[in-house]
Amino acid sequence: MKIIVCGFGYVGATVAACLLREGHSIVGVDISPDKAAAISAGRSPIHEPGVNGFLRAGHADGRLLGSTEVGDHVLDADMALICVGTPSKPNGSLDLSYVVKIARQMGEAVRRRDPARSPLLLVFRSTMLPGSMDKVVLPNLLETAGEAPGGRYEVAYNPEFLREGTAIADYFAPPKTVIGERAPGTSKKLLGICDGLDAPIFEVPFAVAEMVKYADNSFHALKVAYANEVGRLALSLDIPPQRVMEIFLADTKLNISPYYLRPGTPFGGSCLPKDVRALAACMREQGVSAPVMENILASNASHKQFLVQEIGRRLPVGGR
Ligand SMILES: NC(=O)c1ccc[n+]([C@@H]2O[C@H](COP(=O)([O-])OP(=O)(O)OC[C@H]3O[C@@H](n4cnc5c(N)ncnc54)[C@H](O)[C@@H]3O)[C@@H](O)[C@H]2O)c1
Repeated sequence: MKIIVCGFGYVGATVAACLLREGHSIVGVDISPDKAAAISAGRSPIHEPGVNGFLRAGHADGRLLGSTEVGDHVLDADMALICVGTPSKPNGSLDLSYVVKIARQMGEAVRRRDPARSPLLLVFRSTMLPGSMDKVVLPNLLETAGEAPGGRYEVAYNPEFLREGTAIADYFAPPKTVIGERAPGTSKKLLGICDGLDAPIFEVPFAVAEMVKYADNSFHALKVAYANEVGRLALSLDIPPQRVMEIFLADTKLNISPYYLRPGTPFGGSCLPKDVRALAACMREQGVSAPVMENILASNASHKQFLVQEIGRRLPVGGR
């Protein structure tokens, strides 16, 4: 396939390198003239093991072009992967301005595409909060393209699960592939680039795909923070932290498993509240800062309150 990769930062460069390796042709587009020049010369603009070699080999075969704009490539490309940044604003909220800009550019560009061709599949890979595709990306595309998806263009959301440092290995052996689509089957073309990847594929509405990415990343962050709190407490008590966590991790029945990870009831019973309270108190006594442990009971209390409110809300008026 001929694939445009818009945004040649960390994600764009890695994905482009892997797609070149798979035999596709890539047009790498970045608004940074330095990055566009690097792509045109077959050089990686980012540092990630393996990426430079794949880009160089693809460039030597004539399958890698670089540019600062999409230009006429929109006329005959099969797909465009949108990998622009979604940084934090000063107040912590998500800055979608790059996504909006590229969505509008692509919307304008597809107007020139021959309607007899199959739609250009615009695959958004940037991390975006739930609702962004439906409330921000699609309206901007609709307005600028002057038509709904399904004709000259189609839209998909495909979050990225690469880790820096092992990105190439992660690309070829992902934990999963999640495809957010407008309606079932509208992003079949995307499955073409997932061929040969040994991973379960989930085809879901946009908002589910968007939310999965945040559920994953926040859980990964929570795991790190949790392990470090356990580690700090262990150190303060002269207990080897790595040994504690080795034994913790060896339990794949209750610890590293689907248990306790389904949304539903709060925890209760005779042990969990008492032990979490005791552990938080112990950490305070030891002078170990532990915001995660300290807030577990508060989070559980919020959930109980939520359930009571939900039950009240769902009762028929005047019902019991
Ligand atoms: N870095 C990671 O490990 C990682 C992993 C998973 C997901 N993500 C997500 O993927 C997205 C991209 O991340 P990144 O780290 O590659 O970002 P980045 O900032 O490294 O790269 C983004 C690139 O997009 C370019 N760009 C911006 N607007 C453009 C436009 N209109 N046309 C063409 N190019 C444009 C910028 O010049 C920049 O080179 C973000 O949403 C991020 O949250 C990142």
